[in-house]
Amino acid sequence: MTDLARPLAGRHIFITGATSGFGERFAHVLGGLGAKVSVSGRRVERLRDLVAALSARGIEAFAVPLDVTDLAAIGPALDAAEAELGPLWGLVNNSGVGGGTSIEKETVENYDWIMNTNVKAVYFMAQAAGRRFIERKAGGRIVNIASIAGLRVLPKLSIYCISKAAVVQMTRTMAIEWARHGINVNAICPGYVETEINRDFFATEAGQRMVAKFPRGRIGKVEDLDGIIALMLDPKSDFMTGAVVNVDDGQLLR
Ligand SMILES: NC(=O)c1ccc[n+]([C@@H]2O[C@H](COP(=O)([O-])OP(=O)(O)OC[C@H]3O[C@@H](n4cnc5c(N)ncnc54)[C@H](OP(=O)(O)O)[C@@H]3O)[C@@H](O)[C@H]2O)c1
Repeated sequence: MTDLARPLAGRHIFITGATSGFGERFAHVLGGLGAKVSVSGRRVERLRDLVAALSARGIEAFAVPLDVTDLAAIGPALDAAEAELGPLWGLVNNSGVGGGTSIEKETVENYDWIMNTNVKAVYFMAQAAGRRFIERKAGGRIVNIASIAGLRVLPKLSIYCISKAAVVQMTRTMAIEWARHGINVNAICPGYVETEINRDFFATEAGQRMVAKFPRGRIGKVEDLDGIIALMLDPKSDFMTGAVVNVDDGQLLR
């Protein structure tokens, strides 16, 4: 019988971009539900602090420094995580970058930075996890963090929107191809939630004006994804794959 308070007990979940924002929060939420969490990102000091905070709560955690755009480093990073915490059961493909300008002013550098981080790295992280799941024949879970930007057009964020639309379609293609292997692939499309990715913008007058136009006149907090991340990784959600769920306080509707 599953321990209802700890549905993820003993399950190893690897989280990219865990040094801030959603990723850091996911580590606490999933760890609190019993998961063993490998937390990754480039800022090593932050990883150390996070592992200390998780350990203080009795959560088994391991820090894996990783730049996801260094594709050759992905396999060894998963190997190191598995050597420490056991076979992987879930991947949260969360790392991402954003920023842009009007299309006529965009640069190749910005395009490559966003697409390499938000699309290419997400694809090859999922491939590396998927290969392990397939080989072991025990299934697995992948949650991709897309955005409402993948479902609608946001001003001066063309490359970001393209990258997140790619994550949405990537989720669906992986869900179908890997269905027979027992691998569930789902995506969350968050609305605007205040984190390091957008904090500076929302401190401006233009940012405040934007928030005022949201259906509830408010921006989200990282806690607002606690429910959906737990649901997508819960073993009881086995019938859920290929889902693309917007969690946005209704922002997509405006
Ligand atoms: N906040 C929002 O409103 C919002 C809305 C929709 C979707 N999202 C998506 O949510 C995800 C998390 O973003 P956030 O809002 O939590 O922003 P954040 O606080 O800026 O977090 C982004 C994370 O991505 C990591 N990252 C960036 N480039 C990386 C790289 N090359 N290698 C490894 N890690 C990298 C960063 O870690 P290091 O710098 O330590 O490497 C950081 O931990 C992103 O995919 C973002 O697009 C955010």
